[in-house]
Amino acid sequence: VSGRSTVLSEQALVSATIHLGFEVGSGAGVEIPVRHMAVTGQTQESGKTTTLEALIARSGLTALAFVTKRGESAFADGRRVDPYFRDRADWQFVDQLLEAQLREKNKFLRPWIMRICRHTRTLADVHREVRKALAKSSGFNEGIYTQLDAYLDLIVPEIESHELASKIELEPGLNVMDISDVGTPMQMLFVQSAIDWVNEHETNTVVIVPEAWEFIPEGKGSPVKASAVSLVRKGAGIGNYIWVDSQDMAGVDKVILRGCTVWLIGVQREANEIKRNLSNIPASLARPSAAAVATLERGQFYACHGKHAVKTYVQPAWMSSEVAEQVARGLLDAPKMGRQPNDREGTVKESEAQGLRDENRRLQGVVAELQRQLQTRADALVPPEDAPRARHRDNGHANSPESVRLTSLDDSLYQSIKQRILAEPAVLRALAQKPEIRVEVERPTIEAKPDSLQGRLALLIADGFFDAGVSGYAVQKEWARFAFNVSPGSLYPALEALTQLGFLEIEDPGGKKAKLYKAVDGMKVNVVDNGAKRR
Ligand SMILES: Nc1ncnc2c1ncn2[C@@H]1O[C@H](COP(=O)(O)OP(=O)(O)O)[C@@H](O)[C@H]1O
Ligand SMILES: [Mg+2]
Repeated sequence: VSGRSTVLSEQALVSATIHLGFEVGSGAGVEIPVRHMAVTGQTQESGKTTTLEALIARSGLTALAFVTKRGESAFADGRRVDPYFRDRADWQFVDQLLEAQLREKNKFLRPWIMRICRHTRTLADVHREVRKALAKSSGFNEGIYTQLDAYLDLIVPEIESHELASKIELEPGLNVMDISDVGTPMQMLFVQSAIDWVNEHETNTVVIVPEAWEFIPEGKGSPVKASAVSLVRKGAGIGNYIWVDSQDMAGVDKVILRGCTVWLIGVQREANEIKRNLSNIPASLARPSAAAVATLERGQFYACHGKHAVKTYVQPAWMSSEVAEQVARGLLDAPKMGRQPNDREGTVKESEAQGLRDENRRLQGVVAELQRQLQTRADALVPPEDAPRARHRDNGHANSPESVRLTSLDDSLYQSIKQRILAEPAVLRALAQKPEIRVEVERPTIEAKPDSLQGRLALLIADGFFDAGVSGYAVQKEWARFAFNVSPGSLYPALEALTQLGFLEIEDPGGKKAKLYKAVDGMKVNVVDNGAKRR
């Protein structure tokens, strides 16, 4: 790696090298050649997917990636392509499938497979033949056929139930096939078919194989393997490459790994795992020490190709070169995606938090008041026959043809309410002062019922006892009238709790006078009215 690369924009559409990031320490630009590539490192801790996304975004190559886990956010920016499966029933393919399923070679099955596959065209045909054979078999064979039948039970209905594309239409940049809604056996077939498609129809295309230990495992069959090996052997000549992504390369097919002449090695912590991983790197490549791998940080990878093994901070697609370079030099901590470095969340001081709580409470009042006004307006617009309990009626309006019926707000009403909200200076001030903080208005409710202290206080709130602001002593006196005695030690904490919930607010009358508790306008108290004794 020589010099610094700053001119990404001048990159040829399909370049022989891709900008990976910046060397840790020196900040020199790091480029890697476009080859078959292995990317390894601990999941979540290293940043493999972020690296792959960045490389595709900057390479100008066409790439096909797969989403195999539901809810996975990886490759979210890619263009979606439909799952594609070319049904095959040639004996080599069926042999691979069965080997993968049975986890071992079953040579004695091969003559039978070769025989039936002369007449089968689809896996559904194969399934039918397996069932016929099962009906006539016994003993050991019966066991094998039962397993095959169970396997094809998983696959054949998936093939039949999916609307499968008859081709894959790839466009330059990242293409993503989401196969997360089918089981692993069917995922295998989708990946295999897609690689076959690239082998047969595409040039200058990268296939990203996720979880390589699962899709192209070492030492056991997989339907994907033959296709992947063919991509490794023949792809480079026509600009097709495989990029394998796996936390642990030990379980990945060695033919594939030997074909990978670029390795990106991210952090791993377990000494044996690191050793196993490093031992899979082709002998001709430079490599880092195990200790060096263990101390890598997130986003740092050893970029190994030829004689180079450069400790690199990978520039994510969403990060500018300037920032990435500063991170590589150690002048900046790596920012997180979607966050600005000056994001203040998590650093709010208690005084600020208290201010926000106060603001929140005040806004709750504003919202409640606006809701009340809204309800008044809506009631006013309801035709009398629909609204026996409407409080205000504007008869001229209500009977006009344009009158609003119960359920919906018409646009002009909405507009007028919006105008009034915007005209409400308190709301605007709150928005202007704290643009970076979203105030979520929650309205807790409490039940007013006489079987708890809080319930009794809520009854008083509901009855308007607190409307003008009263002292704790006044509450004691009020209850004493009904022979209900409460100690200050219970009463004041209950009042404080209701204050914290936002139902009451404290007014300090100044001097030596006791503080007053006042009901907060618009806070909701549900009255559970079970008879006479309210207080
Ligand atoms: N170079 C980087 N700079 C900053 N954050 C990164 C970098 N690489 C990865 N991350 C963050 O680390 C987390 C895991 O990254 P991901 O690429 O999904 O890792 P992996 O594929 O190895 O599990 C994500 O939150 C991602 O945004
Ligand atoms: Mg990943």
